[in-house]
Parts: sequence; C-alpha cells; structure tokens
Amino acid sequence: MTSSELRKLFLRFFNKKGHKIIPSASLIPENDPTVLFTTAGMHPLVPFLLGEKHPSGKRLTSAQKCIRTVDIDEVGDDTHNTFFEMLGNWSLGDYWKEDAIKWSYEFLTKELKISTEKLAVSCFAGDDDAPKDKESAEIWEGLGIKKERIAFLPKEDNWWGPAGQTGPCGPDTEMFYWKLNDTSAPEEFDPKDKNWVEIWNDVFMQYIKTEDGKYIPAKQKNVDTGMGLERTIAVLNGKENVYETDLFLSIIKKIEELSGKKYEENKKAFRIIADHVKTSAFLLASEIEPSNLGRGYILRRLIRRAIRYGKQLGIKENFIVKIYPAVAEIYADFYNEIKNKKDFILKQFETEEEKFEKILEIGLREFEKLDKISGKDAFLLYQSFGFPIEITEELAKEKGISINIEEFKEEFKKHQELSQTASAGMFKGGLADASLETTKLHTAAHLMLAGLRKVLGENVVQKGSNITAERLRFDFLHSEKMTGEQIRDVENFVNGIIKKDLTVSFEEMTLGKAKELGAMGVFESKYGENVKVYTVGSGDNIASREICGGPHVERTGVLGHFKIQKEESSSSGVRRIKAVLE
Ligand code: ALA
Repeated sequence: MTSSELRKLFLRFFNKKGHKIIPSASLIPENDPTVLFTTAGMHPLVPFLLGEKHPSGKRLTSAQKCIRTVDIDEVGDDTHNTFFEMLGNWSLGDYWKEDAIKWSYEFLTKELKISTEKLAVSCFAGDDDAPKDKESAEIWEGLGIKKERIAFLPKEDNWWGPAGQTGPCGPDTEMFYWKLNDTSAPEEFDPKDKNWVEIWNDVFMQYIKTEDGKYIPAKQKNVDTGMGLERTIAVLNGKENVYETDLFLSIIKKIEELSGKKYEENKKAFRIIADHVKTSAFLLASEIEPSNLGRGYILRRLIRRAIRYGKQLGIKENFIVKIYPAVAEIYADFYNEIKNKKDFILKQFETEEEKFEKILEIGLREFEKLDKISGKDAFLLYQSFGFPIEITEELAKEKGISINIEEFKEEFKKHQELSQTASAGMFKGGLADASLETTKLHTAAHLMLAGLRKVLGENVVQKGSNITAERLRFDFLHSEKMTGEQIRDVENFVNGIIKKDLTVSFEEMTLGKAKELGAMGVFESKYGENVKVYTVGSGDNIASREICGGPHVERTGVLGHFKIQKEESSSSGVRRIKAVLE
C-alpha cells in the first residue's frame, strides 16, 4: 500500500461513517501563543473540543501535517522525525467509545486487512483522577481481541492530553501491530516488546485539566484519534523504519546521487538531510522565513544542520534546492502549497544556503582552533558565523570537548531578548486556553484589523496572530511604519466600537457566501466547504466580519479599553502590533 492510498482510504472510510473531511490546517497554530507549530490533528480543533460549534458538524476527519521539534537532535535514528502526518477522526460531543473502537477495529481489519492475530491494545488502568477503563476493554473483547492481548497501563502510557498544560484530555486506548512477519505474535501482549508498534490512538476526552492540575469532567465528551501515517505505512509494508517508505525513498535516492555515497553506509547523515529538508520545505510553504527568532530560527537550524551533514557526505555544490523536487513530488497531490510556493521555497533555500556557505568555512576554521569552548566562544560562533548553538554543541560533542551552555545563555541574554526557542521552554506551555481574557483579546484583534483597514487601507490583511491572556500580537501586510497619528486612529476606532457595545454573533455559511459578504479570512488559511463567520454589529452597523472558528465575547462593551503598545517590523513588508486591553 502506498502512503497516498492509506491517506485516501482513511478519509473515505470515515467519510462513509458520516464524517466531513476537513483540510489540513496550517502548520502555524492560529491564536495559540504557547506552541510554535501544529503538533497533532486535534490541535487546530481545540476551540471545538471545548464546545464551540464546528461549521462542518460533529463528525470530522482529516490528514493533518504536523511538526514536532523537541526531538530535533534525535533525528537520524529509526524513529524520530520532525515532520509527520496524522490521520484522525473526531466526535465533537457525538459518538463515544463503542463506535470509536468499533470503527477503528473495522478499519484495521477490513480496510487494511490486518489479521486480529497481529493486533493488541492497551487501556487506561485507572488512578485517583479517573477510573479504570473497563468499558473500552469490554468493547475490544466483544470485537474479538483476546483478554491476553489487552494491557491496562497507567497515565504515562494511556492518557492523552492536554496538548499543553491545560485543556481537554482523557484516557485513551492504543492499538499495536506485530511488525514481524516471520514470527507469529506471542499470545500475551507485552507492551515493552518493541516488535509491537503503536499505530493508532483513540482518546476519550472527557476531562479538562485545570491550571491547578485537577481533572474536572468536561461538558462535552469528545473522541480524538490519531494514526501516524509514516509509521503505519512502514509497518504495513514490512519496513524497518519510515525512511524506507515511499514518503522518503526518492529523497534518499536523490541524496545518493548528489553525494555519490550509499544510504546504507551513512544512515544518520542521510536521514537528517532528508527529514530536515522536507520539514523546511513545509515551513517555507507556510511562508516562514529563516531568521534568528521563533519559527524562523527553527527553520534556519534545520536548513543549516542539513547543509552541515551534506558537507560531511562530501557534497560540494549547493544541494538543498536539488532535493526540493523530490519532496514536492511526494506531497504535491495532497498538499498543493508545496508546489504552489515553489519559487519562494527555492529562493529562500538558495539564499540561506549561500549565507551559510560563506560563514561555514571560516566558522569551522575558527572552531578547529578551539580546544575548549567557553560561552563567549559559542556566542561568537553564533553571532559572527551564524552557527546555531545546537550545531556548536554537536561539533563540540564530535570533538569530545565541553561547552559552557550557561555562560552562552547569559551572553545571549545580554545581547538581545532572544529566541525563546533556543530553550525547550517554548514547547511546554498550554494551548490557547479560551479563558475570558484570551477571548476578549481575540475579539479585539478582529476590531483592530477592521480599524487598520480603515486607517491604512484595504491592502492590510492579517498574516498571523498570537494571543495570550495578557496581550495580543498581530502581524499584517503593510510596507511602512505606522505614524503616531495612525496608531491613535486605530485605537480610537476600536475604542469607539467598544463603547457602542455592539453584538458579536456568528453564522455558518459556505465559503462562497462568506466571500460574497466580504468576510476577511486569515491569509494562507485553507477552509472547508462550510465556514463560521463572526460579525461585530448588525444591520447597517457592521464593524467587522471575519471567517473564524471563535470563541468570541458576546458584546464589545466587555472589552474595556484598547491600547496599542508597540508597532514594529516583523519581516519584510509585514508589521507587528502588540496590544492590550486595560
Ligand atoms: N491526539 C492524539 C495523539 O496525538 C490522538 O495521539
């Protein structure tokens, strides 16, 4: 089976069970301040898991592109990747355990034709927060999974979420596939036996984890499932790892061609290059540019690390642009942005590679001179030669010398308020919390966009937003710095609407109708057939109309006083505003 067949089969199967197929959301989470990238299929659905109405209904299915970067340094082994796709189906307060498990089983055994003999499952063992999930186990048994093949495991294994620190979560039941074809699966399921590979996870989201660490029953009980496309296609085809599947093979071949080396003898370097170029291409397709901050920094790190390993393989020329076509060919059918953004992607790859090329040689020479690396040295390599600290760390490790990271960090702080992403802290936060403060700022963001368009012109469109309970950050297309007067005009516009205490309401409609009504959409977003449109005001007095999932406040009067704290450049042609409600 090919990966695109598996993707199609999954979506078609759940579509037949009444699920609407929704497009993969952007890799850049909307309105989520605490994570850099979309990390799971459920991630773009958080507001709906918390009770907002989804325009496509209560049963959804998707193939979602995801990026997880916590494991960048592990890439190169058999199991870690930074980019992956998650196939998922959701019940938003609709069906529950019985149907979810029954359909998982039906898909595995009927559609993928996996013999029950090769399957095992795990269920939640129970603890002080939630009872043992006997119900799921009974459903599995009823379907034909033997008792010996059902393991009960604690929270570390059989509980999923929240994706951040707070939010929807619950016990899950995981499905394992016996990957060996020459030895039959043992009667009894041993979750520690690595030959059992987890391929699917059904999460029963019936709790909300609160800020004080408690689990309270959720108002809406959801099912959230996730099947890793890469891993599943690998085991189904009897492959040892994902690099041997059609999601990687042509990239690996291309690297062999460019380097004249064999994958078998240089697995680590090949895998790092293949993984990183693929992820970078997807990040560029989302219009992220290499930089020293946030997402741009991750992108830079991935590209530069790939280049470094290319050098290690002896590739002399600029090669990243040459690998891109192999990536595009694998994904263009399903993710057309990878092809549509070709020119931008190639240009960025080229520029970044040239930049790094220039400094790499000198930097490496400098590096060779060192027999121990102080934080200051590391910072110099970073600042003058563009060596991401992680690369310096890696080189130091290869040379067997130590490096003073604490000192580097201090040096770093001294020079700029830098990349939160250099530390893993950024990834540990909670998801957008849908608290009242966040919701208020979300509504304020809509009003501000309307104000910006009024004051600066209709060319202003949103490029991204990032909202916490404390502030909103908003990127928009505009080529010049705003004047003090323009900033005041926008503030006055927003505060005027707040004073009028207009209603905020939403309606579901087709995307065509929304466009007809002049509703603003988030630049770059892909929408399903039906969308939710939030309108501020009514009748002749409409202040803003946007396609948006919500949530929002009901009346503008509750927002208080709106203030723009900062207006600055974000990247070329894009301005960034930080604003608060007082
Ligand atoms: N959200 C669940 C996961 O990522 C399905 O495994």
